Amino acid sequence: MTFPPPRALTSAEKTVASPVAPEGGAAVRGSYDTVAESYAELVGRGMEDEAVWERGVLRVFVESSAPGAVVGDLGCGTGRVAGYVRGLGASVVGVDLSPGMLRVAARDHAQVGFAAGGMTRLPLASGVLGGALTWYSTVHSSDGQVDAMAAEFARVLAPGGVLCVAFMMGPDGSAPASWLRHAYGHAVQLPVYRRPVDDMSAILGRHGLVETARVVRQPVGQHEPTPQGFVLLRRAA
Ligand SMILES: C[S@@+](CC[C@H](N)C(=O)[O-])C[C@H]1O[C@@H](n2cnc3c(N)ncnc32)[C@H](O)[C@@H]1O
Repeated sequence: MTFPPPRALTSAEKTVASPVAPEGGAAVRGSYDTVAESYAELVGRGMEDEAVWERGVLRVFVESSAPGAVVGDLGCGTGRVAGYVRGLGASVVGVDLSPGMLRVAARDHAQVGFAAGGMTRLPLASGVLGGALTWYSTVHSSDGQVDAMAAEFARVLAPGGVLCVAFMMGPDGSAPASWLRHAYGHAVQLPVYRRPVDDMSAILGRHGLVETARVVRQPVGQHEPTPQGFVLLRRAA
């Protein structure tokens, strides 16, 4: 598949960034600001070490998005997924709550544009994205918060645009399954939510995002106690 040369969003396609997310993300933002450098060191700067399914899902996502369209990596962290997707030929803009994560992302992935903002109030104009990713970025959010994010995902996607969601599976996403108090070598304060694929699909479906495919991968290694879910959806045209 060939892609036209990458393009960045114009200023008219961006809206003013919201540096403080309304979803009460101070603890999440602060935790990720603290771990940003260690996260990039420990998790890696690309997707080379990821299981084959992850790379496969991302390839399907890129090939399902309209050629030439800008793709958003929402909750992009240090930009490892944005950089991988850019390497597959897509133009990418990354958005994240944490200025610390974004600093590392901008340093390590110069081919990607980045903006600060929360997923319940994205700094992007309506209908501007041909595809959007939330790759483990909803894992600190309750079902109610994900519902508010889903409205934003639907708003910023163009009709027919593709959404790809990666998350940790569990029986119920209404309350944290656990709390992370120490991660990547630092003290943090992060609620961890896990949910069934059916629940994730239903929340997104309420906002006109229609499931086209799902992958459930069994856990790998000790750091993954539950299966991992990946859902591809399309915004109704
Ligand atoms: C587990 S990390 C995943 C980062 C990246 N997607 C990856 O796979 O490496 C979660 C990221 O989501 C971001 N995040 C969490 N809640 C967010 C929100 N409400 N709005 C924007 N970003 C958020 C965090 O700052 C963090 O960078």
